[in-house]
Amino acid sequence: MQPWTRALTMTRFYITTPIYYVNDAPHIGHAYTTVACDVLARFMRLDGRDVHFLTGTDEHGQKVEKAARDAGTSPQEFTDRVSQNFRDLAVELDVSNDDFIRTTEPRHKACCAELWRRMAARKAPDGQDNIYLGKYAGWYAVRDEAFYGEDELTTGPDGRKRAPSGAEAEWVEEPSYFFRLSAWQDWLLDYYARMNPEFIGPLTRRNEVISFVKQGLNDLSISRTTFSWGVQVPDDSKHIMYVWLDALSNYVSALGWPGNEADQAGLFARFWPADLHMVGKDIVRFHSVYWPAFLMAAGLEPPKRVFAHGWWTVEGQKMSKSLGNAVKPSEMIARYGLDPVRYFLLREVPFGQDGDFNQSAIIRRINTDLANDLGNLGQRVLSFIQKNAGAVVPPPGRFTAEDRKLLDAAAAMLPIVRAELAQHQSFNRALEAIFSVVGDANRYVDSQAPWTLRKTDPARMQTVLYVLIEIIRRVAILLQPFMPGSMARLLDQLAIPGEARSFAGLDRELIPGTALPTPAGIFPRDQASVA
Ligand code: MSP
Repeated sequence: MQPWTRALTMTRFYITTPIYYVNDAPHIGHAYTTVACDVLARFMRLDGRDVHFLTGTDEHGQKVEKAARDAGTSPQEFTDRVSQNFRDLAVELDVSNDDFIRTTEPRHKACCAELWRRMAARKAPDGQDNIYLGKYAGWYAVRDEAFYGEDELTTGPDGRKRAPSGAEAEWVEEPSYFFRLSAWQDWLLDYYARMNPEFIGPLTRRNEVISFVKQGLNDLSISRTTFSWGVQVPDDSKHIMYVWLDALSNYVSALGWPGNEADQAGLFARFWPADLHMVGKDIVRFHSVYWPAFLMAAGLEPPKRVFAHGWWTVEGQKMSKSLGNAVKPSEMIARYGLDPVRYFLLREVPFGQDGDFNQSAIIRRINTDLANDLGNLGQRVLSFIQKNAGAVVPPPGRFTAEDRKLLDAAAAMLPIVRAELAQHQSFNRALEAIFSVVGDANRYVDSQAPWTLRKTDPARMQTVLYVLIEIIRRVAILLQPFMPGSMARLLDQLAIPGEARSFAGLDRELIPGTALPTPAGIFPRDQASVA
């Protein structure tokens, strides 16, 4: 068995976001990828796995060099400033990354050089060198930092060539080192089809990649000579490494490779190959074609999975600098609160599809799911206990069939959520499963009517309240990865100690008689809809 066909269920879990270009201020699209990874990282930690979660910034290349020039600063000053914005964003989003890599760091540059050397020292499957010197003559789009074939481009009314992304392409002719990608075509197809059928998700993207590779791969230009902001090619200082080769290497440089290759306890031995590279749909090709081929060429294992999410538009329009309509995460957080924004991003759109970020949709989600369903359940049960059950966990009597049904549904959530998140990266279906139990619990409150039982059957009232806070406890534990701050407050209100908040603690039922603090609402309604 090849090492990369190992089960996906190992206890270690290495997850990465793409590293963000520092030519632009962070917007909601960047926040989306990072929050999705954070939910998975937090979920895996709570599920007992040894997690390493990486994010960072992609700071070299022509595009960043140009942005620095336009801003009237040196690339170094410019990248220092913009990279810090992405670091701040991670903090503002309450993201639990273990590391933040910058491609301008010495640890990263040393890794790129070694990766290049290893690729150059080894032969491609056709027996020829993986890297050779030639001349590139073709189209390049600086905005995408990508090479395009003539057949991929369209000509605009101004006579200019445009890439499928809309980025302008220019004709480039210069000496260049090439990577013999063409020789890796059959290996890649075999990797997708047989060795690792789970490699690319969702299925539509997998099919696109497979048909792209089947059409035939050209060798890839992997160095440039017409600008200087990047990592130098070893032993040929006239050449700067292609920014995508530099950028993709971050996933191993951040693990300390190659310095710790022989160290079994080092980060590289512990966490490589990555379990999941989360990416937007625009950069699947780089991660699922070039990256595994580069790694194999260097004698390293390819990652286990690449998953591509869709893109957000804003009020129906593409986010763009020229329209000035990019949604700033900080403004959204100030307006709606962090956890509602995190929830909305992952609940509103099936992960993998495109979505539209609009005010009415986010307000609807806040008021319906968070305020009416979850917030109201917590608030009415906890304040009822406070007023009518002595502010302690109520002692339950015998459970009825109805009680059992609800308790069983709550106990069944973890395996469902685990499958939806870990196997399918389906955040919205995981949330649907949890909120369906919240809905059942709200209906149970109405049908059991504890306010009536208070007079007619106080012992039964205690059982009903016990069932309800048990449900709230399980829901809050499972929602922690999505809304860490709010769920911590809710678990505080249930007097759940820190060590009982992991998934291993799910079966530690509440202890009757435990004092409960005064409850406070977690999710207020958004007043905009009341007006
Ligand atoms: N630097 C490269 C990635 C290198 S990874 C080795 C890059 N950077 S980026 O800043 O342009 O994009 C980073 C991520 O943000 C991509 O996954 C991209 O898909 C995502 N998004 C950018 N705009 C987006 C939306 N409007 N909506 C959703 N995601 C978006 O590509």
